[in-house]
Amino acid sequence: AAHALIPLISGEVENEPLVSVVNPALCIACQKCEEVCNFGAIGVNFDNEVLVSESNPLLCKGCGDCSAACPAGAITMRHFSDEQIYPMVSEAVKGDFVDDRPRIVAFLCNWCSYAGADTCGVSRFQYPTNIRPIRVMCTGRIPKSFVLQAFLEGADGVLIGGCHIGDCHYLEGNYDMLQRYNELHEVLAKVGINPKRFRLEWVSASEGKRFAEVVTEFVNQVKELGPISKTGDKIEPKKEKVKEGT
Ligand code: FES
Repeated sequence: AAHALIPLISGEVENEPLVSVVNPALCIACQKCEEVCNFGAIGVNFDNEVLVSESNPLLCKGCGDCSAACPAGAITMRHFSDEQIYPMVSEAVKGDFVDDRPRIVAFLCNWCSYAGADTCGVSRFQYPTNIRPIRVMCTGRIPKSFVLQAFLEGADGVLIGGCHIGDCHYLEGNYDMLQRYNELHEVLAKVGINPKRFRLEWVSASEGKRFAEVVTEFVNQVKELGPISKTGDKIEPKKEKVKEGT
């Protein structure tokens, strides 16, 4: 009730800068975005007699789950688009790998795992320097294409860190990531990448020690598997972009 009183008294509402925007030309009205949105911020509507999705910026909390779930690549997160994240992935795996293999791309959610990495740092827990963290608002923001792109660019492993189940800042973004994680495991096996190179872990903001343990264990596991191009993993690093929404 107190929370509701704030905008009523102030007479205005400040909305999130990171909100979803639908491109009606690409939308196929499949309603996947509506399914994953926990805030009722997105749903289909008629636009010139064509059924397309529409996002309400006042209700959108900016988790990005709808953008990751959209199979048509029709939803962009304002100020945090896929086009801004892909170059981060490329930079994360760039360079000569001879001495610092394995190189691991880590997508960490802003509210728990990224904060957990910070706690780890300020508490001076040690862990291998092989991971390259990329911050996302929620694990629900991570489409399968981010993970596939990281492997295509030459990453030896991909780690995803999010809030514990039940603790997601956006209610259920991590459930959606869990589902994508299970589906991706099958995809990776099919394209010839050992699924052990891909891991999903829940680390809260206070679990700095656990963050160090998770990273150390995963780095050791990927080290045992060896560099991605020398282990029989069929895929070779390429510079080709995976299509959005895949
Ligand atoms: Fe951390 Fe959703 S905010 S997983």
